[in-house]
Amino acid sequence: MPDVIASDPNDDWNWNVELGVQWAWREQLLAELDGRPIGFVQIIDPAQEESHYWGDCAPDLAAIDIWIGEPDCLGQGHGTRIMRLAIARCFADPRVAAVLVDPLAGNVRARRFYAKLGFQEIGPRRFGLDDCMVMRLDRKNWRD
Ligand SMILES: CC(C)(COP(=O)(O)OP(=O)(O)OC[C@H]1O[C@@H](n2cnc3c(N)ncnc32)[C@H](O)[C@@H]1OP(=O)(O)O)[C@@H](O)C(=O)NCCC(=O)NCCS
Repeated sequence: MPDVIASDPNDDWNWNVELGVQWAWREQLLAELDGRPIGFVQIIDPAQEESHYWGDCAPDLAAIDIWIGEPDCLGQGHGTRIMRLAIARCFADPRVAAVLVDPLAGNVRARRFYAKLGFQEIGPRRFGLDDCMVMRLDRKNWRD
């Protein structure tokens, strides 16, 4: 879907391989609506993640990526529900003090979406070719 490609145009996620690989530092989750797959969520421990995408990180963080792949499922609150479930899953681990996301700086819709969930903008950061906005949700600011 164009929105999904536009949200991360420069990274090759190597799906064919990665979907079949399990790591202790990663969860790959499918979002289903009445049995229909509509989205995908990845939760990682950024300190342990193999490519070291986030650089040196504190050991008490989780990072989430989310994509809804079905056009007719956008803008109906599904993303919010999926994120709330994913965040609750992160904070179910007592080790996790905060959750990170890194939308493209230009993805204003995603930034507003995360802000409504309580994420605060930490600042811009360049990851590879992408200018992103790092956003953070601290456990103390989270209400399940
Ligand atoms: C970002 C995303 C997960 C949001 O999920 P969603 O189900 O569309 O969002 P919700 O319906 O729960 O919330 C809608 C709110 O999010 C924002 N929003 C973000 N993307 C939107 C989209 N494509 N369509 C409509 N609203 C969107 C709006 O501000 C809206 O605010 P509102 O509550 O005032 O209407 C989803 O749009 C998506 O997967 N987009 C493509 C990939 C992407 O950008 N992923 C994020 C990468 S960091």
